[in-house]
Amino acid sequence: MAAINFDKVLKDIKPPETERKKVKALSDKLIQLINEITAEKDLNGEAVLVGSVAKGTWLAGKADVDLFIKFPLSMDEALLKESGLYIGHRCIEVMQGSSEERYASHPYVTGFINGYEIDFVPCYSIKDSSQLKSAVDRTILHTEYIKKNLSAEQADEVLLLKRFMESVGTYGSEFKVGGFSGYLCELLVLQYGSFQKVLEAARGEWKPGYTIDLEKYGTSKLFNEPLVAVDPVDKKRNVAAALTLQKMAEFVVASGNFLKSPSKNYFYPRELKFDLNSIKDEFKNRGTKTFLLTFKSPDIPEDAVYPQIRKTEKSIVKVAEMRGFRVLGSDSWVSPDGKVFTLIEFETWKLPALKKHSGPFVWYQDHQERFLEKHADKAWIDGDRWVVEVPREYRDVESFFSGVLTKREINLLKFGKHIKSELLRKHEITEIVEFLESNDLETAGASENLKSKGKLQDVLKHLYAYLNRSELLWR
Ligand code: UTP
Ligand code: MN
Repeated sequence: MAAINFDKVLKDIKPPETERKKVKALSDKLIQLINEITAEKDLNGEAVLVGSVAKGTWLAGKADVDLFIKFPLSMDEALLKESGLYIGHRCIEVMQGSSEERYASHPYVTGFINGYEIDFVPCYSIKDSSQLKSAVDRTILHTEYIKKNLSAEQADEVLLLKRFMESVGTYGSEFKVGGFSGYLCELLVLQYGSFQKVLEAARGEWKPGYTIDLEKYGTSKLFNEPLVAVDPVDKKRNVAAALTLQKMAEFVVASGNFLKSPSKNYFYPRELKFDLNSIKDEFKNRGTKTFLLTFKSPDIPEDAVYPQIRKTEKSIVKVAEMRGFRVLGSDSWVSPDGKVFTLIEFETWKLPALKKHSGPFVWYQDHQERFLEKHADKAWIDGDRWVVEVPREYRDVESFFSGVLTKREINLLKFGKHIKSELLRKHEITEIVEFLESNDLETAGASENLKSKGKLQDVLKHLYAYLNRSELLWR
């Protein structure tokens, strides 16, 4: 395929000189400040700029400054954590920013300074991955590898790839997305040479188990994730470990769509048009029944919540299906105000009073006796097997929910560990049409649930996305 010209897009997504200067000045200042604080406290640490700002691969207007503070390997881990937090907080204080503690493989501080998001992460200073003590220790090695191997032209290709990934919804290695990290995008460009070639390879060659091994370590057998990208700085690490099969497949499809009819629109967010009434009508017309389960999100980092709510969602679906209800689809998310929403759409939501229950074969004497003791004269023989009709415990989804989400029954479900107590403490279950009607700001006015337009919009956005699951993959 002929090469496509992306100059116009690059004009929009490449940070202009003024932004580059500003970001450089801020990070220089912070590095100096960290080193001063470290020296003052005799801490033996040193600031290193890492991440996309260091690599020159950040998208215009999206600089998050990743500052690592490296300490000698001999330093005690508790002291390293404590020092990292201290230096971060102190730095933010001096710069008059606001701060927030976060957690990766150990706690770190994020500061908001002059409109920029700055991460202060303590790590060990290592020469190579054999000395690795915590997962973040690799980051400095990643930054060095990319700075050494990625040319300025290739950095532009990375920007195109990241932006494409963002707008088709596959960018980000956090659990919420399960997509491609920035570093993985950089490795893909190194592997294939350009944005377009990455897409061509994805569309043409990728299948589950596909391997990229830039340094030819030959260790791909160690991994069983859908895509394997052996880390050039650590042969025992798959850079694509967080990529889900789902997002890999979505990227392959979006790549094919783009290559079929390339358009600059792929680099800009798709304008999604939706409103409460059209979403309500669509749910009504489907003829299914959809419920929203809502409860407060536990007080743990968002990245830790997502695997837990997905697990809970899958478990509710499984138990509902075991009870005879058929589920068409489900989804979960956390709203910006810290509420978990789990949506479950039912194909079957009402069941007969009884169900047929198969018993033992007539050929085995002792099994039969136990069965007949229990079911006595109600059982009959179907073929060579005893069967009996037994009453159903839950005849509709509402009673299923209210039964199964109580202390007595809840152990049927598998939860993320912080979810169960929140669910038991308080939750709401609402049928989607009722939910939408009671939250219709035009008619019902402000309700208990969503007092503001913003909160309602966020729910509508997710409902729309649920109803249009491949919307982002094409333009
Ligand atoms: P970021 O998530 O900030 O990535 O992690 P980035 O490369 O700066 O890309 P942007 O910010 O989205 O433009 C900073 C560094 O942490 C390591 C990488 O080395 C990355 O450059 N990291 C992060 C990983 O190795 N894996 C991850 O899943 C996330
Ligand atoms: Mn970053």
